[in-house]
Amino acid sequence: MRLKDKVALISGSGSGIGEATAKRLAAEGASVVVVDLNQDGATRVAEEIRNAGGKAEALHANVGNPPEIENMIKFAVEKFGRLDILHNNAIRLYTGRVGEMTLEQWRKSIDIGLTAYWYATRCALAVMVPQRKGAIVNTGSVSGLAGDYGLGAYNAIKAGVINVTRATAIEYARKGIRCNAVCPGIILTPPILKSRRALPEIAQKSEQTVPMGRCGEPIEIANVVLFLVSDEASYVTGTCIVADGGLMAHTGMPSVAGGGPDW
Ligand SMILES: NC(=O)c1ccc[n+]([C@@H]2O[C@H](COP(=O)([O-])OP(=O)(O)OC[C@H]3O[C@@H](n4cnc5c(N)ncnc54)[C@H](O)[C@@H]3O)[C@@H](O)[C@H]2O)c1
Repeated sequence: MRLKDKVALISGSGSGIGEATAKRLAAEGASVVVVDLNQDGATRVAEEIRNAGGKAEALHANVGNPPEIENMIKFAVEKFGRLDILHNNAIRLYTGRVGEMTLEQWRKSIDIGLTAYWYATRCALAVMVPQRKGAIVNTGSVSGLAGDYGLGAYNAIKAGVINVTRATAIEYARKGIRCNAVCPGIILTPPILKSRRALPEIAQKSEQTVPMGRCGEPIEIANVVLFLVSDEASYVTGTCIVADGGLMAHTGMPSVAGGGPDW
């Protein structure tokens, strides 16, 4: 077991990538705090982990509210005695053109998708630094590396997440803390599955755009997080691992030699 006796807290783990990560880390021996705004989701995931023989506690929290972040870190330490792993993963997604987004949408995006990541990191460092050990992983995105049509606030938070990851990594490298980001491409989580059902033509287009010809599964991101928080990544900090089926490896330009994905 790669995470025996470790304690992990994952925000937004009542669904999708966070859920897959909570289950993956628990299967490797970690005690997991499953944090989500959706109480039912958090309760279900924690129960499923326990039913599979793992250790987990559910916590209902809104990471957009700083006192609830303080409380979630306290909760992890009270329940399991320490905190070794923090995975910042929750977001609030708004779609719309940069010129049409409201100030409230912009602020909410930043509060949940960026400020909460920094503040949870700050609170976790207060526990991890005295331990002289800790691993933090932030869920970035390929959308933090380039722009998307209709996702301006999301592009901004994910770029911020990637760079606050680097700042944290360098400042705490000599204190035993590692901080990394995972940058998923298109992953088949509930919100993506829902939008694919609503817009099947976009779903087909997405698959064509990905060099591997398919979208990713949440477990394929959970496996990257597992590596990053495990001792196997002991020399890895300040990086962002892209897991996107090759999406970001392509400039987006058409082939000058007549080729394409099936060439
Ligand atoms: N699915 C993708 O294609 C994809 C691609 C790149 C990055 N990501 C990133 O992965 C992460 C997880 O996304 P997902 O696709 O698994 O979505 P998801 O909706 O399946 O999971 C997100 C969870 O976060 C919770 N949440 C939302 N606001 C919260 C708040 N204020 N406090 C606490 N919990 C809150 C939701 O209730 C939900 O359970 C996000 O950071 C997202 O940007 C996803």
